[in-house]
Order: sequence, then C-alpha cells, then structure tokens
Amino acid sequence: MLVIDGQIVSVGTRREVEAQKEARRAEKIDVGGRVVLPGFVDSHTHLIHAASRAEEYELKIQGANYEEIARKGGGILNSVKKLRAATAEALKLRGRAALQEFAAHGTTTVEAKSGYGLDIASEMKILKLQRELNEEQPLEIVSTFLGAHVVPEEFRGTAGGAKRYIRILLEQMMPEVVNEGLAEFCDAFCDRGAFTRKQSKQVLSEGQLHGLVPRLHAEQLSHTGATQLAVELGAASCDHLDRINDSDVRALGKSNTVATLLPGCDFHLGGKQYAPARKLIEAGAIVALATDYNPGTSPTVSMSMVLSLACTQLRMNPAEAIAAATINAAFALRREKRLGSLEKGKQADLAVFEVEDYREIPYYFGMNRCWMTVKRGEIIYMQD
Ligand code: NIG
Ligand code: FE
Repeated sequence: MLVIDGQIVSVGTRREVEAQKEARRAEKIDVGGRVVLPGFVDSHTHLIHAASRAEEYELKIQGANYEEIARKGGGILNSVKKLRAATAEALKLRGRAALQEFAAHGTTTVEAKSGYGLDIASEMKILKLQRELNEEQPLEIVSTFLGAHVVPEEFRGTAGGAKRYIRILLEQMMPEVVNEGLAEFCDAFCDRGAFTRKQSKQVLSEGQLHGLVPRLHAEQLSHTGATQLAVELGAASCDHLDRINDSDVRALGKSNTVATLLPGCDFHLGGKQYAPARKLIEAGAIVALATDYNPGTSPTVSMSMVLSLACTQLRMNPAEAIAAATINAAFALRREKRLGSLEKGKQADLAVFEVEDYREIPYYFGMNRCWMTVKRGEIIYMQD
C-alpha cells in the first residue's frame, strides 16, 4: 500500500506498488506478514461519562435486572448524577484515556453521544468536550445529540414531566447544539422506561428540520416499533434490535438504514436474546457492529471482542463481522466514501493485528492482538 498525505494512493502486490514513481521516496513500514485491516469504525458509543457502575454490575449478578435498577434511580440517572457533579477536566481526562484505549484496540473512528447530561449546560459540556477531543487527539469523533436518553430526575413524578422535558429539549437544547455546530446526528432511546415511539418521532423529526440526521436506540428491552420509525424517517441507523420481529427484518432489508448490532450489551447484562443477525443478513439489511461503550450496559472499547461475540453468538462469519465493523459502520456514519476500506482514494486508517489469518481476530477473545494503529497515515499506536 502506498500512502501520501494520509491517503491511500495505491494498493496491490509489492511489485505493483513499488513500481509507482512516488514509491521510491516513500518511507517503508514493514508489518512483517501481519494482517492489516481498515481501522475499526465504532459507530455507537457513549464516550463521555464520569465513572463506572460496578456497584450495579454486582447487583445485576445477584439477580436485579437492568430496568429495576433504573426504576430505583440507578442506571442512566445514576450516570447523569455523576456526570453533572464532575468537572469538565475530569471528564476530558477519562474520555482521552478511553480514546487511547480505543486506538490500542485498532479503532480509528468513534461515534460519541451526549445523553448523560440531560440539562442544557451538561449536554453542551459533553458535546464541547467531544469537539475538543476531536481536535486534540488523533481519533476522529463523530458527535450525536442524545438529549432524549431518558427523562431526567427533576421532570419525574409529576404529570406531564416528559412533555415538559421534551419541550425544553426541542426549544432550548437542540437549537443551541445546532447553532454551535456541535452534532451531526440526533438519537433517541425509544424503549420501555425511556421515550415512546411518538415522542422519539417528535424529537428526531425536529432534529431533521435542523439538519441533524436521525439514528435510534431501537427494540433493546422491549418492542416499541422504533425500527419501523427509523426506516420511515430514513435514519442513518437503528441500533440494538434484540427484539425485532420479521416485519422489522423485512423493512430493514429493503432500506438503507443500517442495522447496528451491539452484542456487548447482551454479554455484559447476561441477556440471552441476541439480535437475529443471520435473518437480517439474509433479508439484505446492512449490518454494522459497534461496542456501545458505556458504563451501564457495555463497558468495553474492544471491537475484536465484539467480533468474537458476533461470530459465536450472532453466527456471523469472520468476514461478515469485519465488514460490519468497518465499511458498513462507516456507511452508518455517512463516511463510507472516505473511511472503512483499504482502497485507492480512501483515508489511510489502518489496524494491524498480530495474527496469521484474519479469522484469528475474532477467534482469540478477551485479548488484544492489535499490533499497530495508523490514522491518516500516521502511526498512533504501536505495541511495546
Ligand atoms: O445503549 N440504551 C440506552 N443507552 C445505553 C445504556 C446506557 C446506560 O445504561 O448507561 C445503551 O445500552
Ligand atoms: Fe447506546
């Protein structure tokens, strides 16, 4: 591969590439026969949060379920409380450390959602940190406004609280996010205990009017019709999909809305109902895989662990899983022309693995075989 100014200008056999005139002056990086992939595109994360929720992890192991914990003020609201109390400096340090971990695991682009702030100041704080981190470190961060994560504590317990919160979200938060150019996408958690299909539609449609492209948390804990809504709105993706039905599968099969699967959540929560990846692939859906890095349901940055889960639990084959974690994920972020594959004209974002065969990337699990990561032609991680 020949790279000039961060762009791939030639891919082929050593002889073909070395025959190019510009190749004579090029610095040579020999990866010693290791496997080179496009850098992973992690198209669903909740990058900025203040702390882990290990205390809830233990409760879950003892039998409490995710929704019970949330109803008692734990879950997302627990993370909201912690984020509001945290300084921007502390959040940034934690975010930056996570980004270094992403890079060390072969990820070169990360989508990041707000959603643990849920008031104007805190949502803005998150999105501004994402913008700063995007500028200050090598990974590309794609920002999504997720003001519609859950109804915050201060709007609960009174009739019409959700309605009042949505009004503030639409009339105050969203215009400010858009004016400052802080997000490209708008997301909503459309599920039991979060927002209804009607409320999600209201938020995402208004986002569209402001130029925010919709994406949606859909059918994770219950079936709400969120998938059909995503398709109807022409959303870039709908994510989770553990509880979709055959008609949802058919709708996704006929649409350009990416079906983003997040098996790390089922693994971490000990759930048994993984998304029907095979049915989706057979129906012709565009399937992507992502970590959903977040403190409540999927505390991992490891796309190769997600690939392992995709192979063993979703029955995707290694090549399908790799395509889902690279080019299909780039499509979900509307960056498929620039990212997600190793072709002439694409950005030189690479992940090199210490394996002899690409199938060994999902085959090894719970260990990191990433040997080198390259972003825009620059080495940003190298194994010691
Ligand atoms: O993608 N489902 C909603 N949001 C996250 C979970 C957030 C949390 O529990 O903190 C998810 O699973
Ligand atoms: Fe999520």
